[in-house]
Amino acid sequence: MGRDKILCVDDEEMIVDALKMELMNNLPENITIETARNAEEAFLIVEDSISQGDNFILIISDQRMPGIPGDVLLAELNKLVPDALKILLTGYTDIDGIQYAINNAGLFRYIQKPWSREDLLLTVRQAIDKYNTKRELNEKTRQIIKMNEELEKKVKERTAQLSDAIKELEAFTYTVSHDLKSPLRSIDYYSKYILEDYSNELDNEVKNMVSNIRSICGNMFELIDNLLLYSMTAKAQPELTTVDMDALFRNTFGEIAKPLKERDIIFTIEEKLPEVTGDVVLLKQVISNILSNAVKFTRNKDQAKINVKHSIEENKVCFSINDNGVGFDMKHASKLFGIFQRMHTQSEFEGFGIGLATVKKIIDKHGGEVSIKSEEGIGTTIMFSLPAGPGKDANV
Ligand SMILES: Nc1ncnc2c1ncn2[C@@H]1O[C@H](COP(=O)(O)OP(=O)(O)OP(=O)(O)O)[C@@H](O)[C@H]1O
Ligand SMILES: [Mg+2]
Repeated sequence: MGRDKILCVDDEEMIVDALKMELMNNLPENITIETARNAEEAFLIVEDSISQGDNFILIISDQRMPGIPGDVLLAELNKLVPDALKILLTGYTDIDGIQYAINNAGLFRYIQKPWSREDLLLTVRQAIDKYNTKRELNEKTRQIIKMNEELEKKVKERTAQLSDAIKELEAFTYTVSHDLKSPLRSIDYYSKYILEDYSNELDNEVKNMVSNIRSICGNMFELIDNLLLYSMTAKAQPELTTVDMDALFRNTFGEIAKPLKERDIIFTIEEKLPEVTGDVVLLKQVISNILSNAVKFTRNKDQAKINVKHSIEENKVCFSINDNGVGFDMKHASKLFGIFQRMHTQSEFEGFGIGLATVKKIIDKHGGEVSIKSEEGIGTTIMFSLPAGPGKDANV
């Protein structure tokens, strides 16, 4: 870092020397006081100092000098050292000069000659304070910008690392799930043969145990299939078409409810649902997972009620699916869209905790958002948004 300097310019030698002495005796030692007798000398000093990396805090110039006057000098020096503060020493009749220096050199103050010692020192100290405050502020701003740039770089790096790790993990989940199926199939087959071929030789307790092995195998098959579906949706690129959400909701509910003849479920769609832009296969999976939950978690109700609503906002359509089921306490629900997160035990309601994670993956891929609201004993509402399709006003 270069030296801090003050430059005093006056054609009267006595005045400029007196000014220098005054400043040297009253300002901190680390500030170097330079003097010049005219504009040419002043330019040389400033240019030379800049080339050595020195900083000008302040330039004090007399207005009336032979050749270039003080206001013009300050305006020219302002181009070389814009951060330096400028003070003009004037007589009573130099209003035009002051005006010019204010407009062209960002004049800090003018001091009328002859000045009082206290006034001069006070003004110079104020100038030094102002310069230092600005310098600190600039330094802090520079640091903040640098930190911000570093932070942005780090975020980019981490995001790239994270998305690589996620991709690797998804590939791993897929491979593991896929490869787990074949030994599981063998266990299931052997159990099946044991039950079929050795049935006469086994007592009932052993037969029960082997049956249990088969039913556990069945559960694991289902879990693996769900995991495979999850990792496949994670990899899938949506094939976008116009999707009739009204038909998709009605058909999917029909498929889910068909085998549940004993259940009393009132399924309503408040107002015809619009079309959206999306991948019909993936969106069917979303609707199926949400409606399956609604059906599952209302099964203790004499009459289950599932209601679907929508609203249109700018370019997106928001869907909301409400049920009057068991609900849950929202306090513990922050990670519900993560894989294997459940609010109910296996003995209360069966499930793997993959359904909503799959929903979120798919909605994310469509550029939408998903959220859930629930109240224990009252019911649950799940909301998701999607970009509106060309037929978004079909229901109007
Ligand atoms: N409509 C709902 N009513 C009450 N609880 C719900 C509802 N939807 C989701 N939940 C809670 O969120 C959990 C996660 O749901 P998710 O669909 O991911 O898993 P799951 O239904 O348990 O299993 P599966 O992987 O078979 O779907 C559920 O276990 C349940 O606790
Ligand atoms: Mg589910």
